[in-house]
Amino acid sequence: MEELLEELLEECRPYTKQGKLADYIPELTKGNLDDLGIYVVSSDGKCYQAGDYKKQFTIQSIVKPILLLQALLDNGIDRVRSRVGVEATGKPFDAINMNDQTLLSENINPMVNMGAIAMCTLIKGDTVEARFQRILELTRKLACNPEIEMDQDVYLSEKRTGNKNRALGFLLKSYGMIEDDDVEQVVDCYFRVCSIRVSSKDLAHIGYVLASRGKLPQTEERVFPSKYATYVNAILMTCGMYDGSGDFAVRVGLPAKSGVGGGIMAVAPTRMGIGIFSPGLDAKGNSVAGIKVLEKLSQRMYLSIFKRN
Ligand code: DON
Repeated sequence: MEELLEELLEECRPYTKQGKLADYIPELTKGNLDDLGIYVVSSDGKCYQAGDYKKQFTIQSIVKPILLLQALLDNGIDRVRSRVGVEATGKPFDAINMNDQTLLSENINPMVNMGAIAMCTLIKGDTVEARFQRILELTRKLACNPEIEMDQDVYLSEKRTGNKNRALGFLLKSYGMIEDDDVEQVVDCYFRVCSIRVSSKDLAHIGYVLASRGKLPQTEERVFPSKYATYVNAILMTCGMYDGSGDFAVRVGLPAKSGVGGGIMAVAPTRMGIGIFSPGLDAKGNSVAGIKVLEKLSQRMYLSIFKRN
């Protein structure tokens, strides 16, 4: 397996240069386009890795499934679904998901920014710090890594420049979708959780828990009920790669989530969690080489959920 991973990275290395670093968050321009790493946590109890799997980067949008899990743990499916819908938007991650003068909860999805900002209000905690801390703790637990921290420089960089996300927050507020909370505080919580620093190893562990329907590897400790895995994986399948989700479903066929830090977390239900890092992005904000590696891995290991005999 390790040989296969090494081989895939070599085959896909040329694609790292086809993408661009995200530059709308200035701090992310410090990334290195040459980085390419993969980590796999498999249900046979083994882990496999190749390339820059230890390199750290910010989780960015890959925190959205974690936010959704915490919102589900705090509120249950009915309440979460009544506030943030499940239909794929088919739009870019920072799109304004509204029709003319109406903004309905069913038009926002937990995997796009508007839905994620709304979900920040569903996380229990009296202060931004308390809410952030609970998301950080859940991330550490899922990743089996107590050392995960926030990247202060990326957080400040996004806080300074994230006016589109602020605008999305104010739109949500004006349509009554952020009830008692202060918009700046809600958006601040979103900026902080996006700045959590991870590696592809961490992402593979998080993906594994979704693949195993809520259980940690090794100890088999249950972190969330199996029905939440069904809910989250379905949303990842249909909207995890934004307006690239259809293409990804055809080419890879796995629930997955991308982030503009260059990470992709993929879930092969019952089989494995996969974490990939390559910071060159396509126009939709998804890692170009990361998708290519996943496409090849899926083909060689028959991972697509649409290919089962
Ligand atoms: O809100 C933003 O713009 C970033 N913090 C996260 C966006 C993101 O990762 C989109 N993913 N591909």
